[in-house]
Amino acid sequence: MLIHTIKEVREKIEEWKKQGLTIGLVPTMGALHNGHLSLIKKCVEKCDKTVVSVFVNPIQFCPGEDLDKYPRTLDADEKLCKDAGVDIVFAPSPQEMYPDAQMMSNDFFTYVIPPFFYTDKLCGKSRVGHFDGVCTVVNKLFNIVQPDFAFFGEKDRQQLIILKKMVKDLNIPVQIIPCPIVREESGLALSSRNKYLSDNDKKNALALSKILFNIKACYNNGITDVKALTETAYSYLNNNHSLEYLEFRDAENLEEKKTADDNTVVFIALKIGDVRLIDNISLARG
Ligand code: PAF
Repeated sequence: MLIHTIKEVREKIEEWKKQGLTIGLVPTMGALHNGHLSLIKKCVEKCDKTVVSVFVNPIQFCPGEDLDKYPRTLDADEKLCKDAGVDIVFAPSPQEMYPDAQMMSNDFFTYVIPPFFYTDKLCGKSRVGHFDGVCTVVNKLFNIVQPDFAFFGEKDRQQLIILKKMVKDLNIPVQIIPCPIVREESGLALSSRNKYLSDNDKKNALALSKILFNIKACYNNGITDVKALTETAYSYLNNNHSLEYLEFRDAENLEEKKTADDNTVVFIALKIGDVRLIDNISLARG
C-alpha cells in the first residue's frame, strides 16, 4: 500500500499496535536495488508488519551535491516492495516532511545533531551537515512509524554507527538491525549512485573493493601495522581515481587505529569523475 501522508501512516500503525503486532522500518531514499531488497527481506522475515520509507531527504544533501539528479523511481520501487511482501511504502513529499521548508536553517527548525567526534571524520569531513540531516529525518521517521526494529545497511557504516549512537543517547525504543553489504559478483558494493557510472567507470570502481579485500587478506596473514596495510592500496589507483580517504577506525566509536585488530573497520571513499563512491570492510574474523 502506497501512502503519502503522515496522518494515514499513523492510523495504520495505531491499528497494528492495538493488535500487538511488531513493526519493522526500512528507511530508504528509493531507487531500490538488491542491497535494499536484502534489508527488506530481513525485515519481512523478522517483523509482523514492514514499512519501507522512500524519501530523498533534501536536508542531508550539501550544497553542490546530487539532490536534483538523485534517481527517483517510485513506481518501480513500489512494485519491488509489493512483490517482497511490504505492507506500507511511505513516500512523503518534502512539504509533508518539512512543512516549514522556507525556514530550513537550523535557526528555525529542530535538528538532531550527532556528536562532533563521530561526524568530523570520514564522509562527515567533506559532507558537512550531512549526518545532522540523516539523524533528523531518521528521528522523524522513528516518531512517525514507531518501529520495534529498523534496518540499515553496513554499506553506509558511518551512518549506521551514528544512528546507533543516536538511539542509545536519546533512549529511542527501537532496535537497529545492521545488514551486510551486498556486492556484485565483481566485488562492487551495490549503491543507488552506481547508476551514474559508465561501463569504464564501473571497471575503475572495482578499485574500492579490491583495495579492501587485499587489506583484509594481508591482515588475515598477520600484518597489523596500518601503514604497512595501506601501502599496497595505492597500486590499485590510477589517474581516473581521486582518493578521498582510506582509514582504519574502531567499529564502535570510529576512533583512529594505528594497529589493526578484529574490531577495526577499513573505510574508503574515492571519486571517479563526479561520482563519489564509498565502501568499507570489517577486519573481524569468523
Ligand atoms: O541511507 C540512506 O538511504 C539515507 O541516509 C536514509 C537512512 C534513508 C536517511 O535519509
